Amino acid sequence: MTPKEPIKILVTNQKGGVGKSTIAANLAAYFAMQEGMQIALIDFDKQASSSRWTKKAPDVGVRISQVEVNYQSAGMALLSARAGVRKYSSGVDISICDFTWTPAMSEDFMSDFDVVLVPSSSAKFEMASTEIFILEYVQKRMARLAASKQSLIVVPSRVDPGYASIGTFTNLDFLANCFIAPPIHRMPEVDSYVYEDFFCVCPDKAVADNFCMFGKYIAHKVDERREIRKTLSINGQSVNREIAKKVSVLDDYRKRAKNLGFYGGAALTGANPDNNLTPVPDAPATRTIGERFIPGFLRKTTE
Ligand SMILES: Nc1ncnc2c1ncn2[C@@H]1O[C@H](COP(=O)(O)OP(=O)(O)OP(=O)(O)O)[C@@H](O)[C@H]1O
Ligand SMILES: [Mg+2]
Repeated sequence: MTPKEPIKILVTNQKGGVGKSTIAANLAAYFAMQEGMQIALIDFDKQASSSRWTKKAPDVGVRISQVEVNYQSAGMALLSARAGVRKYSSGVDISICDFTWTPAMSEDFMSDFDVVLVPSSSAKFEMASTEIFILEYVQKRMARLAASKQSLIVVPSRVDPGYASIGTFTNLDFLANCFIAPPIHRMPEVDSYVYEDFFCVCPDKAVADNFCMFGKYIAHKVDERREIRKTLSINGQSVNREIAKKVSVLDDYRKRAKNLGFYGGAALTGANPDNNLTPVPDAPATRTIGERFIPGFLRKTTE
């Protein structure tokens, strides 16, 4: 029997404290507990927060490993990171890497993954830095990522309950295969149970339902990717040419985004078959409720 080729998920952002470890560990638990899959959680963080968490929480069968990257040179960094992923991903259905992005890592590392999750809070400054992060690092690999349908998914994290995502990421909607996941809500009293249990089985039904909705969305993307992997060599070339045309607009956009210094732009409207949340036609780019800034891709579900 040929060994199975695991689906690899990277959870990353250059910014700290955006929810990477929370999402990586909870997603690992979701896949293991709700989808019955064999999961490896690979922690690149020196503080090892996701492994600490899953070690304290009940054993749900997630295989946890830690990888230390050798940053002596760019080449060594990529090599050691790749070796770690390969070693600890073997034999599982899905491996999930929790990695704080650093410019010392080559963008080539990103293209090793089937799905790249970029958590970001919905705060104005964090959305802006997330956009720029994506443009900086994904741009160079975009044609290849899109051609092979590797998806880049922005994950709104710590969103106030009562908001849902709409459409794709506003300013990045020209990036093929860039999506926005259903948001992970700001969980109440997160610290009282966060290190003992997982969101997907939380006794607070609202917390569990919210996380399971996110988990299902990612599971669907993983299934899509599995299907696509079977046919990659057939259609990769033609998609590639289409995407290459789009890349040329990116440099100009990036300059403008930096000058603006904030997140703006018109929300993408219309049906998005990859997102089963209902888009709102003519949604405003941004709204301000009281003093709070609400990004255009979030809509209020409870009034
Ligand atoms: N959905 C949520 N609701 C409430 N609090 C949250 C949520 N997600 C994360 N937090 C809290 O936010 C903080 C940062 O989260 P986390 O450690 O997952 O981020 P990180 O990106 O891994 O950070 P670092 O860059 O330090 O590794 C933690 O205290 C965590 O408990
Ligand atoms: Mg972390």
